[in-house]
Amino acid sequence: MKRALPDLTIAPPVEGEKVTIVFHADGRQYDLPVLGGTHGPKVIDVRPLYAETGYFTYDPGFMSTASCDSAITFIDGERGILLHRGYPIEELAAHADFLEVCYLLLYGKLPTQSELKQFDDLIGHHTMVHEQFKRLFEGFRRDAHPMAVMVGTVGALSAFYHDKIDITDPEARMVATHRLIAKMPTICAMAFKYSLGQPFLYPRNGLGYASNFLRMAFGIPAQEYVVSPVLARAINRFLVLHADHEQNASTATVRIAGSSHANPYACVAAGITALWGPDHGGANEAVVNMLEEIGSKDRIPIYIKRAKDKSDPFRLTGFGHRVYKNYDPRAAILRESCHEVLAELGKNEEPLFALALELERIALDDDYFVQRKLFPNVDFYSGIMLRAIGFPKAMFPSLFALGRTIGWIAQWKEMIEAPDQHIARPRQRYTGHPIRPYLPLAER
Ligand code: ACO
Repeated sequence: MKRALPDLTIAPPVEGEKVTIVFHADGRQYDLPVLGGTHGPKVIDVRPLYAETGYFTYDPGFMSTASCDSAITFIDGERGILLHRGYPIEELAAHADFLEVCYLLLYGKLPTQSELKQFDDLIGHHTMVHEQFKRLFEGFRRDAHPMAVMVGTVGALSAFYHDKIDITDPEARMVATHRLIAKMPTICAMAFKYSLGQPFLYPRNGLGYASNFLRMAFGIPAQEYVVSPVLARAINRFLVLHADHEQNASTATVRIAGSSHANPYACVAAGITALWGPDHGGANEAVVNMLEEIGSKDRIPIYIKRAKDKSDPFRLTGFGHRVYKNYDPRAAILRESCHEVLAELGKNEEPLFALALELERIALDDDYFVQRKLFPNVDFYSGIMLRAIGFPKAMFPSLFALGRTIGWIAQWKEMIEAPDQHIARPRQRYTGHPIRPYLPLAER
């Protein structure tokens, strides 16, 4: 049955539409062109501003600034809508295999059966890592954070696969893209296995992306690992929900790193570092830490009070989002996944999940959160699901990175292939000391 699609405004370019800026000090006026998009607000094209007026615009944190054109993902944060290449996230999460979504993000269309088979074979060709790559892991402490290991090992891919890092060659770009999609589950599982002191498992092609990853993460050579279809479906969904989210901090980092024509492995390693922070992909780990600290439902009011207190640095992690001023659609789906996974594992009474549900209920009934439009984001429920499956908290951000790799690499490819690609070079408002002469050491 086809679901009715939300009615989204279309903002087509209007021939000749302009905005006039007036400098009241001297009455000068300048016209700036206005550009339309498919959906979402129109944008004022400020590119000629500095050359024509000598002024910069000022927007730290990119509150009102579009940094690029992109045809990959659209978010309507006010209404809680997320589309990939035009398809609503709810439909992709319900029906699509993660590799289908990878194909969609990369090539702009859903694959036919034969295209998907061919893509699956191509990815399968690259799932193993160089044998010497394993030795890299031995350089890390066993108790290193898996994200630290991921940054180092993913960055090192350019040292192992330097045959195809000429980013001006479309074929080399595509091979690097396939390698990243294929090797990330292997590397992510290796980071986990290394932390446990268990042997690495080779990938098993043909199992499917999510099942292969689960087997590499939880299997051991001594016995056969039987993949639970419910857990495979939950991981598939988790990956689909994390696949892309337009110009977030880590994706913008990948684009900025790539704008200097750095190789894609180095760019994705940069994305992993940006993702690691607790305000971004590290939030899934921080949410579970917070829920453990709260401990029981009767202590929720204390933490709600702290979250509202401006003199207290505590914030309700997993709540709020720069773009969503409504329920994050991914959080709603992950909450359902929590129910499914916990039922499959016989953990229906999981206290952390009950605590999270109650915290959500209380927060969404509180004026502070209502007025500021603070709703659960993607990280609020994901950690509870991953923990139930058997991943330790420290692995959560690495799993986010595994899902987001396709978004990073699709956005990197789009940026490199854009006809007007330039190195990203923000400007600044200088607030330092005025010019002054150097004083020799003896005179200071
Ligand atoms: N708990 C309590 N208050 C909050 C929270 C929160 N989680 N989030 C925002 N607020 C308040 C702010 O104090 C501010 O209040 P004020 O207007 O009275 O000063 C107001 O809501 C607006 O918040 P900003 O920080 O200006 O919003 P911004 O868009 O810069 O931040 C962010 C978004 C970083 C996600 C923020 O909501 C936050 O810190 N959330 C908790 C961390 C988190 O869950 N991060 C994951 C984000 S999703 C992702 O990256 C995958």
